[in-house]
Order: sequence, then C-alpha cells, then structure tokens
Amino acid sequence: MTPVLELTGVAARYRGARTDVVSGISLAVRPGESLALVGESGAGKTTLLRLLLGLARPTAGEVRFDGAPLAPRDREQMRRFRRGVQCVFQDPYSSLDPRRRVGAIVAEPLRSLGLDSRASAAPKVAAALEGVGLPADAAERYPHEFSGGQRQRIAIARATVCDPRVLLADEPVSALDVTTRVKVVELLAELKRERGLTLVMVSHDLSVVASLCERTAVLEHGRIVEQGTTAQVLGAPGHPYTRRLLDSVPRLP
Ligand SMILES: Nc1ncnc2c1ncn2[C@@H]1O[C@H](COP(=O)(O)OP(=O)(O)O)[C@@H](O)[C@H]1O
Ligand SMILES: [Mg+2]
Repeated sequence: MTPVLELTGVAARYRGARTDVVSGISLAVRPGESLALVGESGAGKTTLLRLLLGLARPTAGEVRFDGAPLAPRDREQMRRFRRGVQCVFQDPYSSLDPRRRVGAIVAEPLRSLGLDSRASAAPKVAAALEGVGLPADAAERYPHEFSGGQRQRIAIARATVCDPRVLLADEPVSALDVTTRVKVVELLAELKRERGLTLVMVSHDLSVVASLCERTAVLEHGRIVEQGTTAQVLGAPGHPYTRRLLDSVPRLP
C-alpha cells in the first residue's frame, strides 16, 4: 500500500543555524496505521511533525503525500492535503482563539477549505462536538468556559470535523490530568477504530504510545536510532538510547 505520508532521507535546519536539527530521516506511514515518535526533549519530534505538515521545508530529501512529493505551489495537491491531514497541538490553552465561539473555531477547517457555508457547517460541527463527548450547546460558548481536557476535545473536534484521513498530534495529552488523559486516549482510539484514522503522534508517555500506536520510531539528536512495531521497540529495544529512554520514564506496571 502506498504510504499516505513518507519522509525519505530528510534533513531540516532552522534559519540561521549551522547544523541540521534532523537528518537522514526515512519513515513511512501507511493508511490506517499509527506511528509514535518518541525521544527526549529537543530530539526533533516537533520538527518532524512540522515537516510532515508542510510547515517546515526539508533541506535534503523529500516529503511525500500519497506517493507524490509535497509541492506547496500545487494548489490542487495542497487542497487535498489540507483536507486529508489535520493536526492537534500540545497546548489546549494557546491553540484556541479566545475571542471566537467554539462553534466558529470547530467550523474553521470546513470554512477555509470552502466545503461549507456557515449554515451547512452547523450540523457537522454539532456532530464533531458530540463525537468528542461535548454537548451541542458548547458551540455557543467560548474556550475560557472549558477545562483543559475539554479544550483538547474541542481541538480534536476541529481537527476531525472535515473527516481527515490523517491526524498528526504533538503531545496531545501531556497537558492533561490523568483521568482526562485516559478519556482523550480512548477518544483517539475510537477515531482509529471507527473511521480508520491514520495517526502520527508525539508522546513522552510510553503507556499512551503502547495503547494507541502499532509502530514507534525513536529519535535521538535528530536521527532515528530505531523503528519498528511498538511491541518490538518498547518490549525488546535494540538500541541503548531506547533502553535509557525506557528506564527514564514511568511505565505501566
Ligand atoms: N523555531 C526554531 N528555531 C530554531 N531552532 C529551533 C526551532 N524550533 C526548534 N528548534 C531546535 O530544534 C531542535 C529540535 O526541536 P524540536 O523539534 O522542538 O524537539 P522536540 O519536539 O523533540 O522537543 C532543538 O534543539 C530546538 O532547540
Ligand atoms: Mg516538541
């Protein structure tokens, strides 16, 4: 099966920097699969997500979407890409515009993709809010009226309202307390199961990784040191860095 997203020999460098922050990155995400990116802070996980989202440009190698190189100038491809690939960020406090009602926030992808008018978006927004376990009247309220966990649900509703094929999530549950974390993980699992959603997720919580992602790639200083099935990588790590990572974080008993 053609990978929906693929990085081949990718390197990236931030403006003004003298060295690459990630390099030699090759990984493929096939439809319906979920991939976890793990590694210490600063390893380059967020940079990889930015590359996969087309927000950062590789200095070497290629980012491919449905087998074709990602070309920001190809309007037709970008439209399919924005429709098919959505993202959720770490911080549910800064990622939602405080001045807009939740309904408008969640409708934003439908509106910006030109899929819906205000009126035709409304039932989809209500369904997306219901899908993440929020009451339909949430649409009339503002982000500050919600808790951190509820806000992350709003962000997930926004990312899934246009029925994307792929969700890229950067530490989607790290800002949440334990009980809320469990609920949001369950919600993501349900989206995978029921919609066949493809998931690429950064998480430092290896129990979250183990419960959601079939595959795991381990990043150390901008390089992938190990990748494979999560059972393999976390169960019988082949690289000393992965073993150190496993020793340094809390695990499920
Ligand atoms: N906008 C930026 N400008 C310059 N350097 C950056 C920028 N964002 C991240 N970096 C650097 O790139 C490296 C990887 O960062 P990042 O991808 O955010 O890692 P992670 O998400 O694994 O913590 C770090 O050394 C970080 O300081
Ligand atoms: Mg990060």
